[in-house]
Amino acid sequence: MTIGRILVLGGTGILGQALTRRLGPDRCITTGRHRRFAGTVPFDALTEAVEPVIDGAGGLDGVFLMMGLTSPDICAARPQDAWQLNVEAVHRAVQACTARGLPIVFLSSEVVYDGQQGAYRETDAPAPLLTYGRLKLEAEAIVAAARTRTVIARCARVLGSTPGDGTLVTDLMARLRRGETVHVAADQRFSPLLDDDAASLLLGLLQTKANGIFHLAGPDGLSRLEIAEKSRRWLEKHRPAWPLGKVQPALMRDFPTLEPRPRDVSLRIDRLTAAVSMVPTDIDGIVAACGMRQTYPPLRSI
Ligand SMILES: NC(=O)c1ccc[n+]([C@@H]2O[C@H](COP(=O)([O-])OP(=O)(O)OC[C@H]3O[C@@H](n4cnc5c(N)ncnc54)[C@H](OP(=O)(O)O)[C@@H]3O)[C@@H](O)[C@H]2O)c1
Repeated sequence: MTIGRILVLGGTGILGQALTRRLGPDRCITTGRHRRFAGTVPFDALTEAVEPVIDGAGGLDGVFLMMGLTSPDICAARPQDAWQLNVEAVHRAVQACTARGLPIVFLSSEVVYDGQQGAYRETDAPAPLLTYGRLKLEAEAIVAAARTRTVIARCARVLGSTPGDGTLVTDLMARLRRGETVHVAADQRFSPLLDDDAASLLLGLLQTKANGIFHLAGPDGLSRLEIAEKSRRWLEKHRPAWPLGKVQPALMRDFPTLEPRPRDVSLRIDRLTAAVSMVPTDIDGIVAACGMRQTYPPLRSI
């Protein structure tokens, strides 16, 4: 199957932007609520019907469900608001897609797991600690019960490589090159994934007619501290003239959150790589991609 057009409900975030870069705005129709890019269709899933958005996009090969309140602390502070968007509005979108026989790709999260074990497989039992994770799991059940083809992508932390994009490595590198000491948790592990790889893998899953739950993650499980140390080492080696800040080990408890975060949500991706015949970039490749785009003196927000 060659992908013609897709609709991304909630496509103004890092994943929707990566899909748009990959397919172009004519083949990747994105909706957003507050943010707007060229071609973004304004859509508020809490107050507007989803059917006209789907029918307006026309000739779709699939619908990606990505809209949501995605900050764990906001979900914990406003669980009812989060439920309305992350579960109820997703349910309405699922019904609309099912009625039209459209394949659904739903973006779930690594935090459906409790983080006690790490290196999770899709067959491991979810047990979310966070409200955000519980809502994702509730939405997964709705998607899984739909009478249309569905892919549930349990997604790890997505990293961009564009300076200023607010993702982990670009942010760490910007702070290090400003000479800051960065404090990073040694006891939080996950399997980071490059945004462009995430787009390719998601499109691959749609294209190969895959069905069911897939981990969407990079090949390495590692801690924030390990990622920060690799980032610093890359800059030290390739940008030796830059006066860099230091990396200081810390623990998750040093960064208070409304709910305790899972410790190790690293994911195995054997099922994903077998389905799409593609292995995503490893952490050294991600760090290099981010490092190559760093400039000195550092870019400051204007
Ligand atoms: N990024 C990650 O590391 C990561 C990891 C695991 C899972 N995921 C999942 O992947 C999906 C995409 O994540 P992301 O980081 O690219 O996106 P994001 O920046 O969290 O953005 C969420 C999207 O939802 C939209 N939205 C918010 N309120 C809405 C409403 N009332 N009606 C309709 N749309 C609304 C936002 O629109 P505006 O911004 O225009 O308001 C945005 O397009 C999410 O479902 C997230 O849970 C992401």
